[in-house]
Amino acid sequence: MILITGGAGFIGSNFVLDWLAAGTEPVVNLDKLTYAGNLANLASLQGDARHTFVQGDIGDRALIERLLAEHRPRAIVNFAAESHVDRSIHGAEDFIATNIVGTFRLLEAARGHWSQLPSDEKTAFRFLHVSTDEVYGSLAPDAPAFTEEHVYEPNSPYSASKAASDHLVRAWHHTHGLPVLTTNCSNNYGPYHFPEKLIPLMIVNALAGKALPIYGDGRQVRDWLYVSDHCSAIRRVLEAGRPGEVYNIGGWNEKTNLEIVHTLCELLDELQPCANGQSYRSQITHVTDRPGHDRRYAIDARKIERELGWRPAETFDTGIRKTIEWYLAHPDWVASVQSGAYRDWVAAQYGAGAAEQGA
Ligand code: NAD
Ligand code: TYD
Repeated sequence: MILITGGAGFIGSNFVLDWLAAGTEPVVNLDKLTYAGNLANLASLQGDARHTFVQGDIGDRALIERLLAEHRPRAIVNFAAESHVDRSIHGAEDFIATNIVGTFRLLEAARGHWSQLPSDEKTAFRFLHVSTDEVYGSLAPDAPAFTEEHVYEPNSPYSASKAASDHLVRAWHHTHGLPVLTTNCSNNYGPYHFPEKLIPLMIVNALAGKALPIYGDGRQVRDWLYVSDHCSAIRRVLEAGRPGEVYNIGGWNEKTNLEIVHTLCELLDELQPCANGQSYRSQITHVTDRPGHDRRYAIDARKIERELGWRPAETFDTGIRKTIEWYLAHPDWVASVQSGAYRDWVAAQYGAGAAEQGA
């Protein structure tokens, strides 16, 4: 039995689905169901006794203690977080509450539970904290990719809150001996990705005939990894990672945002041509840049390959095609996440008209 937090979000739900497809070990899935959490992601698990869903907050220490005592998981995998940089710019309160205070309370509950385990269970126990490459800050165009030794230089309220949580996790190992593992991954993409992030937003807007809003010059670089590759890396770190260690996870796939949007338009032109005969590229617009926008992220994933033998299974070409095909096949999922709260966000971020007919 393992305890997953944030397992109704994008990566967490992919992780739970992949975990139960790959093995038989049950999962308790704790998620607060914020705007980003969606039980529809887990609909295929209905009636599966291996999956227990609990709605709740990682900051609710009494709840976590009860779940740990009741289910006695051998590991906790912490995905729960506020995850969107733009939202953290509009307001950082929830980021501090969940990413920092929530992680602290989860660590404390885990420590209390772990310290009382019999010695064989205590040795085997793991607390795996899922983090991001954004904690390392922004790279110059020709600087080497982030290794695990790179200095922490978070620039957004989101990345600062994740950096703080990484430091707490590290300290709970060094001070209390809690057997922690930390993973810092690059940008993910794939099924169930909430359409406030670049790739799903562009797919959904393109198909709806709306503007494709590129921040600034669009030459910012991100390093993209297909979500199931992130999930396989986490499984591998949980299985064989050394407690106290950090593992960077990435796909060696640096692309500018312009390249990403052009690729999406070309694939959509092929798979679902626009009724008016025009390329989806005609919907691209440049909008005001994100304040403090990090120019480049890139992950050096040699440590996890060398020590744990992990490598991604998908290339960007195979992963992005699968992703677009998934969105084309799941219009109901897209419609279901475009709630009033989603429309409110789009209006706040891109202007009032964008929610209805395009930016
Ligand atoms: P997401 O926003 O899609 O999902 C987050 C989930 O956490 C949601 O289901 C939400 O309901 C839940 N949640 C939020 N606050 C909670 C709380 N207080 N208690 C319990 N549950 C809570 O995020 P994601 O993209 O799936 O990211 C998951 C993790 O991976 C995050 O920690 C993020 O920092 C990290 N990460 C994400 C990426 C990426 O590209 N998306 C890359 C690297 C690392
Ligand atoms: P995002 O998906 O928000 O991930 P992150 O900021 O965590 O890397 O954004 C990815 C890149 O795309 C980032 O450089 C910002 C840019 N972007 C746009 O140009 N337009 C948009 O509408 C969004 C959401 C992002």
